[in-house]
Amino acid sequence: CGIVGYIGERDGLDVVLNGLRRLEYRGYDSAGVAIPSEGAIEWRKRAGKIANLEGEIAERPLPDTTVAIGHTRWATHGAPTDQNSHPHVAGRVAIVHNGIIENHDQLRGELDGVEFASETDSEVAAHLLRAEVEAGKDLVAAMRSVVTKLEGAFTLVAVDATDPDRIVAARRNSPLVVGVGEGEYFLASDVAAFIAYTRDAIELGQDQIIELTRDGVNVTSFDGGPAETKDFHVDWDLEAAQKQGFDWYMRKEIFEQPKAVADTLLGRLNDKGELQLDELRMSPELLRRINKIVIVACGTAFYAGLVAKYAIEHWTRIPCEVELASEFRYRDPIVDPMTLVVTISQSGETADTLMAIRHAREQQAKVIAICNTNGATIPRESDAVIYTHAGPEIGVASTKGFTTQLVACYLLGLYLAQVRGMKYGDEIAALLTELERMPEAIQQMLDSQQVVLDLAKELVDATSVLFLGRHVGYPSALEGALKLKELAYIHAEGFAAGELKHGPIALISQDLPVFVVVPPKGRDQLRDKVISNIAEVKARGARTIVLAEGDDDEAAAVADTLIELPKISTLLQPMAAIIPLQLFACELATVKGHDVDQPRNLAKSVTVE
Ligand code: G6P
Repeated sequence: CGIVGYIGERDGLDVVLNGLRRLEYRGYDSAGVAIPSEGAIEWRKRAGKIANLEGEIAERPLPDTTVAIGHTRWATHGAPTDQNSHPHVAGRVAIVHNGIIENHDQLRGELDGVEFASETDSEVAAHLLRAEVEAGKDLVAAMRSVVTKLEGAFTLVAVDATDPDRIVAARRNSPLVVGVGEGEYFLASDVAAFIAYTRDAIELGQDQIIELTRDGVNVTSFDGGPAETKDFHVDWDLEAAQKQGFDWYMRKEIFEQPKAVADTLLGRLNDKGELQLDELRMSPELLRRINKIVIVACGTAFYAGLVAKYAIEHWTRIPCEVELASEFRYRDPIVDPMTLVVTISQSGETADTLMAIRHAREQQAKVIAICNTNGATIPRESDAVIYTHAGPEIGVASTKGFTTQLVACYLLGLYLAQVRGMKYGDEIAALLTELERMPEAIQQMLDSQQVVLDLAKELVDATSVLFLGRHVGYPSALEGALKLKELAYIHAEGFAAGELKHGPIALISQDLPVFVVVPPKGRDQLRDKVISNIAEVKARGARTIVLAEGDDDEAAAVADTLIELPKISTLLQPMAAIIPLQLFACELATVKGHDVDQPRNLAKSVTVE
């Protein structure tokens, strides 16, 4: 969910609606706003996208205000209806909530005589807060008391109609940052909501109460003690979060990949040509002691982790596991002080990943986060961080997030190899040079997009598409399939090409589109096998779309459509191979008339487990 609050001198409703539009990628099941006005709360809320809420406000205008809170929802408890939308209003207070209040059932039972207007877990917080203010507490004290009763993850933002010059928030586990202007303050799930007004922000910690007035921000711990916060400056501007002439954010972000990759590589080498990861702040001694790596992530980031396993094990000979964050802590994983846990998260707020980090740290494992978002919870709760410098990613389906995560993983693998004195000294230098050339290779893929765009138009009625690959081509296939599921809503699956004959080959039918990533020439053992796999599906009637090097005649011979890949080492190939798969999914969804940036049922940053 996305949350925004504003207090200042501007038109508060306008600021909050602008903020919601920028946060809509966090959830778009419903949206709403509330303002304190003449002793009562005024609010509007609507199921569906923010445009519905705007329509509602146009029909039933709200009074002028300089204080407002708003919410855009990704439904957890309760269907996406008007009633279940936020804000939830109880008497003179209104709240918006992100997270899950796990003991909401029990709390409902305790709220004698209260009539609930929704099925949400969030509404109980509104009624609890109402009871506290009606008993005479001010909003801060009331919030302090309410949070002691709540279990689970939550960020709450509240206003009180009888105290209209104040916004009070509570934060546990779900994201929240403060934006600092002159005589005006913002609260939001992420900085995108207020970047149009200020780039100065405050990073908050866990279990904090935040009070905003026009005179300043006061942050305390849940029990009223002092609280630690950190000021930071957002290093990208509004321009970066706009579509700049593209039809979709996603397409723009696909095209930004050469720059995103270059930015992520920037400044990583010292004068001696050695890798340096300044943000890593983990001693070489410590990194030499590590005897196991566990990579933990969700969705696209998980697939980046799968690629990383191939590279890291090859370069460092340290055993490396990759695990879905949502599975990790619930199966009693073997992690100890000698384990390096690497988490990958574009947003830095994914709840599953965050919980995995906490579990790993409880076992005294060291945690390195690979993350794209400054000030986010995951880097803050990790021992060290490698930032990907992709700039804001707004399209729900991750693109430049993925390729820059790959860069960060390669850098980490090579750095570990360097620190541990692996025999790959020369290879490291060569790979770094090759990495430096990746922006160019990606650009080449983008420049030759026409074949993919045509293909998408041609395959618009496909009901199923398969993706095959071996080695790092396998995670590329998985990510290609995920993009298509997310955007085109059709059955798409990625398989290890060699595994095909053990079952999935039964899925092959006449004209079924099958994408296959072919390893570079020079890796002939691997490549020959993949080419045989293509022949196997082709023999059974599949329509083959083959991604292979331009001069690979054998691959071309089994291809109904050939997508040319530049010459790169096998381990780096996913960075180029994924580009046409991203473009294909984006274009197919566009042709089908889907909302590419906001696919149904998804949210960019899932802050509940
Ligand atoms: C959500 C998004 C995915 C994303 C995943 C992990 O499910 O829809 O696109 O890959 O979260 O997100 P993260 O921010 O942790 O990389």
